[in-house]
Amino acid sequence: MTTHHLDTDLLHIGSAPFDPVTGTAPVSLPSMRTSTVRFENLEALESAFAKRMAGERAITYGRSGMDTHRALEQVFMQLEGGTYCVLAPSGMAAINIAFLGLLKTGDHVLVADCVYGPVRNLDRALLQGLGISVTYFAAGHDDVAALIQPNTKVIYVESPGSLLFEMLDMTTLAATAKDNNLILVTDNTWGSGYIYRPLALGADVSVVAGTKYVAGHSDVMLGAVIVKDEKLAARIHSAQYAMGNALSADDAWLALRGVKTMAVRMPQHARNAIEVCKFFDTRKEVARIFHPAWHKDAGHALWQRDCTGSNGMLSIELNCSPVAAKKFVNALTLFGIGFSWGGFESLVQWVDPGALTSHAYWTGDGHALIRLHIGLESTLDLIADLAQALDNIHA
Ligand SMILES: Cc1ncc(COP(=O)(O)O)c(C=O)c1O
Repeated sequence: MTTHHLDTDLLHIGSAPFDPVTGTAPVSLPSMRTSTVRFENLEALESAFAKRMAGERAITYGRSGMDTHRALEQVFMQLEGGTYCVLAPSGMAAINIAFLGLLKTGDHVLVADCVYGPVRNLDRALLQGLGISVTYFAAGHDDVAALIQPNTKVIYVESPGSLLFEMLDMTTLAATAKDNNLILVTDNTWGSGYIYRPLALGADVSVVAGTKYVAGHSDVMLGAVIVKDEKLAARIHSAQYAMGNALSADDAWLALRGVKTMAVRMPQHARNAIEVCKFFDTRKEVARIFHPAWHKDAGHALWQRDCTGSNGMLSIELNCSPVAAKKFVNALTLFGIGFSWGGFESLVQWVDPGALTSHAYWTGDGHALIRLHIGLESTLDLIADLAQALDNIHA
């Protein structure tokens, strides 16, 4: 058991081992690309397969990855406080592994209405066809226990929510799941294990789009599913193996490289986001700020209870129509218009009002919602850019 701080471990996981002949090593593990794994002899092969059959991590074929992948799995386990991790080629692939690994025909799943939008597409495109039914609920509003059916197997949530960053009470959800013998799965891309650790709060499965803060440079697609329980690990592993998801070694390597600066990137994103919140608070065009670390956010007390930090994600409700808000978005010069987040750069997303209709937390009917990722640029420049773009709404 390590006694080091997480920041220390993140720097040391994935150090290259010394060459036994020369006694030298590069600092970082190289990208170990392979499709085929060679075994020194049949005994080595048999031992690897026996390990795999026993549910242990064993290198047998390129699809399950070699040392570069293993180091990245360790990173996720360390971040999330889990004992088992499977990697996936995107966050959405990781979500699929969790759903399809834990649910079968005839099962029912409760899904929070604030989850990443494409989960609803997964429901329409795959779950319905497989005979897996979904009920969406408003966390913190609906009585979750009352929605449980005899065939409910999983509660799937995301905290904070994807568009409005509402904090969910993970401890209460975990208690409901436990009392009813359900598996609580959460998308922890926002926290990425660094500022929020749902497994420690009672969640059973954490799904992370490493595409965002873990890789951190907007150049990698990556997902991970992390669990603590051995039996759940076997089900997740079996689904991942069956689905044939494989992450490229180069992407694993880039993520390992990205994670080395997570301890400096995350607090800086968080500081910059608070500076931007302070600015928005002075502007009449901004009706509401959604950012749990902001002291006026409705979820601030839960954030204080459950999180150890924050990040660069925030949304604003503008006192104007969604159409008028397009002027604001188009006037920004430092914020790229794009859907992603978690990289070093600032981004803006004009949220389609249709995406909010099934979202109980949203009370700004007729108003625009703009989601921002506050990057690592100087906040002086970012705020000047936001100010001129807000002025532009009425221009
Ligand atoms: C909260 C959340 N979960 C999952 C995903 C999916 O990740 P990926 O784009 O790597 O498939 C995203 C992507 O934006 C996300 O925001």
